[in-house]
Amino acid sequence: MERVRIALQKSGRLSEDSLSLLKNCGLHIDRSKDQLFCRVKELPIDILMIRDDDILGFVGSGICDLGIVGENVFAEKQESARIVERLGFSFCRLSIAVPESSTYQNLKDLDEKTIATSYPALLQKALLKQGVKAKILDMTGSVEVAPRLKIADAICDIVASGATLTANNLREIEVLLESEALLIRSSKKLCEEKEKTIQRLWNRMRGTLQATDSKYIMLHAEKARLPDIVRLLPGAESPTVLPLQGSEDEIAVHAVCREAVFWETLEKLEEAGASAILVLPIEKMMNCERKERKYERYFEPCSL
Ligand code: PRP
Ligand code: ZN
Repeated sequence: MERVRIALQKSGRLSEDSLSLLKNCGLHIDRSKDQLFCRVKELPIDILMIRDDDILGFVGSGICDLGIVGENVFAEKQESARIVERLGFSFCRLSIAVPESSTYQNLKDLDEKTIATSYPALLQKALLKQGVKAKILDMTGSVEVAPRLKIADAICDIVASGATLTANNLREIEVLLESEALLIRSSKKLCEEKEKTIQRLWNRMRGTLQATDSKYIMLHAEKARLPDIVRLLPGAESPTVLPLQGSEDEIAVHAVCREAVFWETLEKLEEAGASAILVLPIEKMMNCERKERKYERYFEPCSL
């Protein structure tokens, strides 16, 4: 049996969420220390744990069939891998940041200045787009110290929580790219066996990803209030309405909500006359039509 190879980040921003996604897909990955290669028992899949900067190359060259990589890395390196789907975790952004004490307000203010970055291609693109002539100082890491060392006026780097910027007295002035984890695949044609395994894994992944945002809501209400209540259920398509034993005008409403359910939503439901409101987590979903996600797409995903 041909085994599908998946490249994951060994340690860092993506690795924990990537592993837990695969776990939720029913794959057991025994990660003994320093082990870079794991054989999965449940499906014909092998996992390679490598540096995030290597994932794209491994998938692009066909050493691995699938990979989970940050959009920032994908956008920077022009490899011939294709995006299967955005995974909705490991959100971060590529931003321009300047010393707190400086007066720069945006990228245009950095004309003739020096910007340190590990993302020279993306920075170059942004500079060209805005017609800004700045010098790019290509650094492989520790970009945030460049302004303090007086080797650059600004940096272009990944920001997630913002803690690194704060710790280095830097201020974010412009976002160049919003990034999240991407599932990518090699552009090479794969054998039928591998395609089947990938399809199975992908169905499970979709089920897991859909379930993450979704909740099952159950409540009681007067029949007459039903339209108001249905309107308040976030992302619910067609709720199930059930009679309540021993009650003429009260009903039970059950619905799968495809969007986050906040306390505010429950308060509004209560105001609209709902009682006995229960919100239940959904572990897995199968064959449920998926709603288009809302954020703007930088790259179009390919179909499997
Ligand atoms: C990025 C970036 C910062 C940090 C920002 O590095 O270079 O160091 O993350 O995160 P924060 O806003 O939460 O502080 P990354 O973790 O991607 O490591 P790498 O550049 O070594 O791959
Ligand atoms: Zn990295």
